[in-house]
Amino acid sequence: MSEATPHSGPLRHFLQFRDFTKDEINYVIARARLIKDKFKRYEPHRTLHDLNLAMVFEKASTRTRVSFEAGMYQLGGSVIHLTTGDSQLGRSEPIEDTARVISRMVDLVMIRTFEQTRIERFAAHSRVPVINGLTNEYHPCQILADIFTFIEHQGSIEGKTVAWIGDANNMAYTWLQAAEMLGFKLNVSTPPGYGLEPARIGQPDASILEQFDNPIDACRGAHLVTTDVWTSMGYEDENEERRRAFADWCVDAEMMAVADPHAIFMHCLPAHRGEEVSAEVIDGPQSVVWDEAENRLHVQKALMEFLLLGQLKA
Ligand code: CP
Ligand code: NVA
Repeated sequence: MSEATPHSGPLRHFLQFRDFTKDEINYVIARARLIKDKFKRYEPHRTLHDLNLAMVFEKASTRTRVSFEAGMYQLGGSVIHLTTGDSQLGRSEPIEDTARVISRMVDLVMIRTFEQTRIERFAAHSRVPVINGLTNEYHPCQILADIFTFIEHQGSIEGKTVAWIGDANNMAYTWLQAAEMLGFKLNVSTPPGYGLEPARIGQPDASILEQFDNPIDACRGAHLVTTDVWTSMGYEDENEERRRAFADWCVDAEMMAVADPHAIFMHCLPAHRGEEVSAEVIDGPQSVVWDEAENRLHVQKALMEFLLLGQLKA
């Protein structure tokens, strides 16, 4: 299949944030730092020479596609890009059969799809590691990039406060997994009817999760204020209803003013200025959204390398 030798350890996937231990997350982030520093010095880092990544997109993407594709080529590997429409997935080939076939031909797979159960079914029939490039339930690669970006700007995230304003979507649930693992507090404010589902979150300690009716209260003292679109991919039919329900959940200067004086703003993008965030905030001095987007490249290179080669010394 390839000349490089992927490590012979057990098959690992990254389907949700908590699939990795805290030590493994910290390793990937430290490795992303090394990989980013070499990238900035134009030093080659070709640890995945001759290896091949298949990317399967069942939803649209800009950042995820470009970061995985550029990242794999920079690591010395190559990429195959598939969508539902241009593959047999669009003609009802079972996801299990697709997994069996693709994973006999490539070394690694990244999938962006709808239900988490769909990527779990793929992974259960895959011979190679599978990465979640976003599902309805989780977006773990984005949160890896966000944590890395937070550390770059603010230092350790342990003991800090992150304010999540808006929809209890794939990003919010992944933030909660990260808070539980890495030991920071997540303040969440969502409109009535759009909150975290109790059955999905269990009973996190009050030092990890606090929920607020008023978004201003969630932002008070936060070291990071973050939000996302009001309507995620796959929920477009609810768009009009959501625009009305979320009108007061726009991150604006008033919200940033009550946060920590050194607070930063993040958004996974794509953003809608004037909806979930004001132009003044996303284009203002506290916003780190472009670093956040760039960091997808560096953390995912570290992630792919870890899944294929394990922990490396240099
Ligand atoms: N943030 C993110 O995943 O962006 P794309 O939808 O453009 O991949
Ligand atoms: N929550 C958004 C994130 C897009 C990157 C969505 O799922 O559409």
